[in-house]
Amino acid sequence: MMSSFSTRRTFFAFLATLALGLASATAQDARRGYVPPALDTVHAVAAEHGMVVAQEKISVQVGADILRRGGNAVDAAVATGFAMAVTYPRAGNIGGGGFMMIHSAERNEDIAIDYRETAPAATTPQIFLGPDGKPDIAKSRDSALGIGVPGTVAGLALALEKYGSGQFTLAQLLEPAIALARDGFVVSDDIADTLPGWHRRLTRWPSAARIFSRPDGAPLSDGDRLVQGDLADTLAAVAAQGPRGFYEGAVADKLAKAVSEAGGIMTPADLKTYQAVIRTPVRGTYRGYDIVSMPLPSSGGVVLVETLNILEGFQLADLKQGSPASLHLLIEAMKRAYADRARYLGDPAFVNAPIETLTAKDYAAKLRAGISTSRATPSKQLVSAAASPREGSNTTHFSVVDSRGNAVSNTYTLNFSYGVGLVAEGTGVLLNNELDDFTAAVGASNAYGLVGFEANLPGPGKRPLSSMSPTIVLKDGKPVLVTGSPGGSRIISTVLQVIVNVLDYKMDVAAAVATPRLHHQWLPDEVRVERGFPDDVLFELKAMDHPIVEPMGQTSANSIAVTPNGPLGAPDPRTRGAEAAGQ
Ligand code: GLY
Repeated sequence: MMSSFSTRRTFFAFLATLALGLASATAQDARRGYVPPALDTVHAVAAEHGMVVAQEKISVQVGADILRRGGNAVDAAVATGFAMAVTYPRAGNIGGGGFMMIHSAERNEDIAIDYRETAPAATTPQIFLGPDGKPDIAKSRDSALGIGVPGTVAGLALALEKYGSGQFTLAQLLEPAIALARDGFVVSDDIADTLPGWHRRLTRWPSAARIFSRPDGAPLSDGDRLVQGDLADTLAAVAAQGPRGFYEGAVADKLAKAVSEAGGIMTPADLKTYQAVIRTPVRGTYRGYDIVSMPLPSSGGVVLVETLNILEGFQLADLKQGSPASLHLLIEAMKRAYADRARYLGDPAFVNAPIETLTAKDYAAKLRAGISTSRATPSKQLVSAAASPREGSNTTHFSVVDSRGNAVSNTYTLNFSYGVGLVAEGTGVLLNNELDDFTAAVGASNAYGLVGFEANLPGPGKRPLSSMSPTIVLKDGKPVLVTGSPGGSRIISTVLQVIVNVLDYKMDVAAAVATPRLHHQWLPDEVRVERGFPDDVLFELKAMDHPIVEPMGQTSANSIAVTPNGPLGAPDPRTRGAEAAGQ
């Protein structure tokens, strides 16, 4: 086990390089694996009443079973979230954090639950700098200093307490996860695809190596059984004691000890004081629909609403879906909203961001006026401030609706796939490296050539800025689309394109999700594109001065359209193992 960061600097720098290489290889493999299907061959999964769509099929069935047994969407989401902590260890988690949007039909209320990880009390703004005063990416990505206080247990428990049906206790909803961890399950799909690429990172720690390796030390693969006895015990402690079973007592002590021994600074007091927060969602309107999405400390809702507001002034429906003219407007709108993200957004407990301005229609009109319909605006002409921080791409999203009109949109993460790779000894809890979502230093370049901004510097008790965008689209107060995605900074542009495809282009939800996507985040000034755009479309975009770059990293927008005939589920074909199940 690693005992001191400073004594292992060279080793970690090597691992950082290795991890980046692996990340890139994984993204490219994923991209090679996703061949956009002919859209007329893509069909949504229909159900009569409720629906769960997620990136991992066992957990989808866990959630659907709760719906069948009379649970509401929140009950099902909580069961799915805990199950994915077992069955989808690269992003499903109890050692990380995330965000949940809930539409409660009973209360006619939309609420956001922020269970983002929090920086330990000993965090300083300089924590991720090296002795030369420059960002040291190994510290935030590959060392225990990058571990934020996990929020998932508190967040899921809070959702259940406030918005569950009351028919299921937390312990009942944890039962499937505990059984899956205790008895194990057969490795397939996404774990088999991703574990080999991340295994060396996990095996830095014997506690992680034991869980994710065969007896001969090779990574678990298709057909092997993944058994997580310690994780079952930790989940059982939560079942018995509620969140205190995680944030206090033996589990908390083991978590803090493991982090400390690995060179981190999270203490039992950090865990004991962690709180999930109920927040008011960011609201917007788009072509007569209401958009409710995640507020700060996620930038998702603000950037999404700002982008949609810009686009609303263009008659996108008159331009063919996927045409250069339509894609050009999407890119230009994204670019402007992402520039504001970088400049203004951070944890609302520390930063007073101008949210009302950024989400106002008249502000969008001013930005729209600067868009040429035939030429790309160079990013450097938009603002000369800082750029958005790089963000991890290995998050996971699931959507749930029930027969009572409730909806849940949940995105949670460990940041990198399998987080920092450290399993806290004796807990089975794989820990995050979420604090890499902070900006290490104002104006300094990170590993990707991006610079950051003051609003998102590290600080004690602060939550790093996220892009997670669990979103619900409503018409006349009722959900019509539940969506979200993993993908770091690409999350917001992914959600945007699903919404535009459904609302402007009236695409079936499965086609809206499957069709190729692109992404522009202001800086770097490039359009990242998925495979599947015709050459002539890319040629025309280049002729408008858009710098086109392949590949775009993986996203997975597991979505549900709610129709008068029942929910239609769209598991994203980009992830092997994604599934929709209904009742
Ligand atoms: N770690 C990715 C995000 O929060 O956006």
